[in-house]
Amino acid sequence: MPDGFQQLGGETLTGTFVLSVFTAVLGSLEFGYNIGVINAPQKIIEEDYNATWVHRYGESIPAGTLTSLWSLSVAIFSIGGMLSSFCVGFVSEWLGRRKAMLINNMFAFIGGSLMGLSKLCRSFEMMILGRFVIGAYCGLASGLTPMYVGEIAPTSLRGALGTLHQLAIVTGILIAQVLGLESLLGVADLWPILLGLSVVPAVFQMALLPFCPESPRFLYIVRCQEHQAKRGLRRLTGRQDVSSMLAEMKEEKRKMDMERKVSILELFRSPLYRQPIIISILLQLSQQLSGINAIFYYSTSIFMKAGVQSPVYATIGAGVVNCAFTVVSLFLIERMGRRTLHMLGLGGMCICAVIMTMALALLDSVPWMSYISMLSIFGFVAFFEIGPGPIPWFFVAELFSQGPRPAAMAVAGFSNWTANFIIGMSFQYVADLCGPYVFLIFAVLLLFFLIFTFFRVPETRGKTFDQIAANFHQDSVGGMMDMDMDLDKPSTELDYLGDESIN
Ligand code: GLC
Repeated sequence: MPDGFQQLGGETLTGTFVLSVFTAVLGSLEFGYNIGVINAPQKIIEEDYNATWVHRYGESIPAGTLTSLWSLSVAIFSIGGMLSSFCVGFVSEWLGRRKAMLINNMFAFIGGSLMGLSKLCRSFEMMILGRFVIGAYCGLASGLTPMYVGEIAPTSLRGALGTLHQLAIVTGILIAQVLGLESLLGVADLWPILLGLSVVPAVFQMALLPFCPESPRFLYIVRCQEHQAKRGLRRLTGRQDVSSMLAEMKEEKRKMDMERKVSILELFRSPLYRQPIIISILLQLSQQLSGINAIFYYSTSIFMKAGVQSPVYATIGAGVVNCAFTVVSLFLIERMGRRTLHMLGLGGMCICAVIMTMALALLDSVPWMSYISMLSIFGFVAFFEIGPGPIPWFFVAELFSQGPRPAAMAVAGFSNWTANFIIGMSFQYVADLCGPYVFLIFAVLLLFFLIFTFFRVPETRGKTFDQIAANFHQDSVGGMMDMDMDLDKPSTELDYLGDESIN
């Protein structure tokens, strides 16, 4: 094996490949950082909003106005994400995956600078605008990163590498939670640095992207640049002979050339894509409507209500559990498969939500229930990262071949961000209304998604994109043929298409 090469899961990974994946997931780190950064410093930033108000109008800000301004600062992030995630398909086809990631960094710079300078300029408008712009960055990154990583990954490692997107997100959340502590940057003078730091991953990504090759799949299948695609494949794999990989892409391209260009509308109209797009949307909804962001946006107040002594540290504890279990998923995903882990995660979350509800309801009469509720919250987060956290992100890229993939990623990303926005906006109100029983709503939703996954979601582990698409194709042609069972067979039974996986 040449120097600088790593052996993983029977695959030889080159330095260029590792660098490319690392560079791409810096976008995910940025995404996570901006999810986590707003939680801890809420009070001190609100004080500055008030100071600005006093400076402008000579009186304290009315309580209602402050709540509205804060809610807007939090939620506008998801609106930026919703809008930009819808453009992922168009942008990634127009500029290519790599250039799109490069240019996207502009949003991170503008967003980070607006937020970082807002205190100096005494302007909460700048902060709100900054959150919107950084949200737009994250919306694009949440589509571009899994797409690029999924396209350059060898088939046998596609799931594990896809999970790195989520691992970088949760690492970003944890870094933001820790830096947001009062003993670090979570104080009145330093919060602008905390928010401004979001330009750092962007600087690194911009510096490193020029050394990463464009996705060969994109070059060959979309741009018809065989020569450049081969060069990229050689750099990524370290092999001179890339003919078997090219053959697989050729097959995919041949099929794609027979289809018309796939628009978003067509994804829903064509029987070929209807099933995978419904699965993609429901998987995204299962991620967001599981209630995970109720924990990540409002953990401190949830822990407080649960009677936990130091809610800020409990929040960081949740962040650590979040990271640890994403790593567990990384190692399990290529062994146990996507479907099994997703179901395990949903089922576990459902049980934890029920235990949490019982613990919260009994808290007044049984004081030690506060420990049970804290443990069940940790369990809830752990099960989330086993399946529903990482899997939906890369699963969409797996369900579609090169032609419909960008449009599908846009629809899936948009569904994810919309559900994220709805939870972010409504949780507090619903929690006030339902008291300790609020997580029962999530338990019911989780049960529904578990049943859906059991009946409708296929296993994709070890299959080439072409094999996965072929099975949906058979399903749409064959009418009632049982797709689930068919895709569940080990990949060797699907080798009628020839073993063209990138093995
Ligand atoms: C996923 C979700 C995100 C959530 C995070 C928690 O990436 O998309 O909304 O905050 O997981 O780890």
